Amino acid sequence: MLNRRFMILSTLLAASLAVAAQSPATLKDAYKGAFHVGVAINFAQITGADAVGDALIARQFDSISPENALKWVIVHPRQGTYSFDLADKYVAFGEKNHMFIVGHNLVWHNQVPAWVFQDEQGKQVTREVLLQRMHEHIATVVGRYKGRIQSWDVVNEALADDGTLRKSKWLEIIGEDYLVKAYQWAHEADPQAELNYNDYALEVPAKRAGAIALIKKLQAAGIPIAVVGNQAHVRLDWPSAEQEERTVKELASAGVKVAITELDVDVLPGVAPGSAEVSLHMAQDPKLNPYPNGLPEAVQKDLAREYALLFGVYLKNRAVMSRVTVWGLTDADSWRNNWPVEGRTDDCLLFDRNDQPKPAFFAVIEEAGKAQK
Ligand code: XIL
Repeated sequence: MLNRRFMILSTLLAASLAVAAQSPATLKDAYKGAFHVGVAINFAQITGADAVGDALIARQFDSISPENALKWVIVHPRQGTYSFDLADKYVAFGEKNHMFIVGHNLVWHNQVPAWVFQDEQGKQVTREVLLQRMHEHIATVVGRYKGRIQSWDVVNEALADDGTLRKSKWLEIIGEDYLVKAYQWAHEADPQAELNYNDYALEVPAKRAGAIALIKKLQAAGIPIAVVGNQAHVRLDWPSAEQEERTVKELASAGVKVAITELDVDVLPGVAPGSAEVSLHMAQDPKLNPYPNGLPEAVQKDLAREYALLFGVYLKNRAVMSRVTVWGLTDADSWRNNWPVEGRTDDCLLFDRNDQPKPAFFAVIEEAGKAQK
């Protein structure tokens, strides 16, 4: 009798273990209650062409960012012509899956068409004209998704590496107040939407000081800035846990929540720590592409270690964290395969080229478990 019971129990146990093995923990469940775990999605995922990717996104993540679909060049390619096809599908995907939907971005120096800064003769426009164009763009795009996009990267990358304002066309033509205006108009278009300032390499002290000063200026101008986004395009050996924790804590001390908006962990040589200047191009060179056939086990382990270290810091500081978003679903999707050198193999994400979870994925899940103990 006892024996039989034991057999039934052990069969049940084996069955439930088998189910658990088929459906391992998910990122969004592992970090539930701490912060959203998001992913940037590409055109194939937005349109449904990547059905396997879509299923994985829906299962693993509770927030999405548009890798390109909401950038100026896509939604507003010509004066007077808006193209919302992809953006509409992007928002519908997020709604269908009950996700926290991010808008990226409204004002940036990249992926903005040349016409924005020129008149019909190709001459640079005046401050008034550019302000008017910026206002119309923000009111139209934010207004269209009012109440549906929860969080907007209003201005992206306004700072130079030394923490001073980047000498962009926006700054050159409008002047410093382009920032306050952009946030005012985004807020007017959707008063409920969370307003973010987003930039890269905020682990670098001078740049971080610039971001904090910028947030304070926005606050002084009455802007309800809610979040500072650190892109976190990091590397295997950078930042350390201490550097990342200092970054999160100092940014939060400006009175905003912190989001990690574009996390990926570069495994290749060549790029300065944290840099993500998309206009940077470098020549191809086999020395800059050491793992064309996949990561050696030791590097795979280093990748897992860095991801775990970062998620450990975010979890420890969960009180000030709103979201952690990875910049792409699988290694095949990553922008890093073509930036700043074309045609490299940069296996920098949590899922491999066959949509399978990598050691880094399991390390991130495990990190959440450790904190609960
Ligand atoms: C990148 C995209 O991933 C690429 O597909 C595109 O060609 C260039 O832009 N910082 C940002 C993101 O804010 O929008 C950039 O995304 C990466 C750097």
